[in-house]
Amino acid sequence: MPTRRNIYNILEDGGSTIASYRRGMEVMKARSRANSNDPTGWIFQANIHGTSENNPTFNQFWNVCQHRSFFFLSWHRMYIYFFERIVRSASGDLNFALPYWNYSQPNQRVLPQPFRIPADSSNTLYVSQRRTQINQGTPLPATSVDYSRALSYVNFFTNTGSFAPSFGGGVVSRPMQFASPNVTGQLENQPHNVIHGDIGGPGGWMSDPRLAARDPIFWLHHCNIDRLWEQWLRLGQGRSNPVNNSTWMDVKFSFFDENGQKQEMSGKDILDTASQLNYVYDDMLTPPPPTPPTVSLIAPASASPQLVGSTSKGEVIRLTTSAASFSISPVAQTAFSTALPVANQRVLLAFEGIEYDNSPGVNYEVYLLPNGQSAPKEENYVGTIGLFAMESHAHSHTGEHSGHEHGNHDTGENNSQATVVLEATQVVEALRQRGEWSGQFRISLVTTYQDQPVSEVRFKQISVYTL
Ligand code: C2O
Repeated sequence: MPTRRNIYNILEDGGSTIASYRRGMEVMKARSRANSNDPTGWIFQANIHGTSENNPTFNQFWNVCQHRSFFFLSWHRMYIYFFERIVRSASGDLNFALPYWNYSQPNQRVLPQPFRIPADSSNTLYVSQRRTQINQGTPLPATSVDYSRALSYVNFFTNTGSFAPSFGGGVVSRPMQFASPNVTGQLENQPHNVIHGDIGGPGGWMSDPRLAARDPIFWLHHCNIDRLWEQWLRLGQGRSNPVNNSTWMDVKFSFFDENGQKQEMSGKDILDTASQLNYVYDDMLTPPPPTPPTVSLIAPASASPQLVGSTSKGEVIRLTTSAASFSISPVAQTAFSTALPVANQRVLLAFEGIEYDNSPGVNYEVYLLPNGQSAPKEENYVGTIGLFAMESHAHSHTGEHSGHEHGNHDTGENNSQATVVLEATQVVEALRQRGEWSGQFRISLVTTYQDQPVSEVRFKQISVYTL
């Protein structure tokens, strides 16, 4: 059975998988050049995820990536599964399995060498449309690669209308490329979206859903996200796929196989990678599961989050700089007593109504600063907001995504705003234990790499909820 292996281990033992990937990619690129409508071509495959190209024949199969809903994990699993089959066949390596990049390993945070060197057009795996530091071999920031928060959530999805965070994202009733105003799944936000912004940077391919899948590292990134989904399941303690949700289980998505034949798949077809999709991950070959990551357990919420404070109502926050900070006012005089929250309460920061005109290519690290502190420190770090998969506001209103009239698309007006919720409970708890918590605080946002966003980022509001 094809085994998806860690790219760093492949590098150590000679790397024939990488040679196969290169060969498969070259064949696929040649197919695209010969016939841009060949579904097994490199660009066609990338366009399934997203494109600004206009091709009336294939629009229904393009621009269909599923983001900010509970389809995120399942759709991308199907997507890379068919891609892997196409590469296997195109490369002629019948044992080919997609490698994964486990950037969360402290000594594996550097973009794997074949993707950087040589840094010229002789190297199929190199693309210049990436952040310079990444192509130069600078390790990804330690904050970005942290998946322990995401894996700590036991619940797969968030119910409609709720702000409670979940591992896999908000429920939707039908496919939507960029579901809105749904709560983004925790794994999707970080590390997934964050890594996209780190690799692509302002103006790069990986930071823009319409171009991301043209970068060959995209597929190794998603292979790792798919593996983290498996890891999450193996952590048990109530973690499970939403098999009781018939929408998630039965809605069909279309892809193309290695013969260019259209294939349909739904959630129920991808629950078991070994028996249904014929692949396994090298670090999960034998039960019991590998040493679990050090994650705590965050049980599903039984109550709805209560709004206790926010930035000024009705005042849209416009971010154009690498750093900004905001004070939070209590919604009611009594809401912020001196010791909010009460013991055992969870504290959530919700960034609501996030939108932009074009992919800004940045991530904002979020810090919670107690009264009187002005510079963020490590202990104030709450999480990072990855500004990757939101439909560009400008496009959603001009109809530039011509695929909207077809297939798996939502045509809703409000298709461009996102909500990201970050858990601040641990940070608040630590502040409390150090005696630094008074119930008054500011939220500080700092871009990773001190990036300037290439397009203004807007938040309708930053709110604080207790749960
Ligand atoms: Cu559909 Cu990593 O993106």
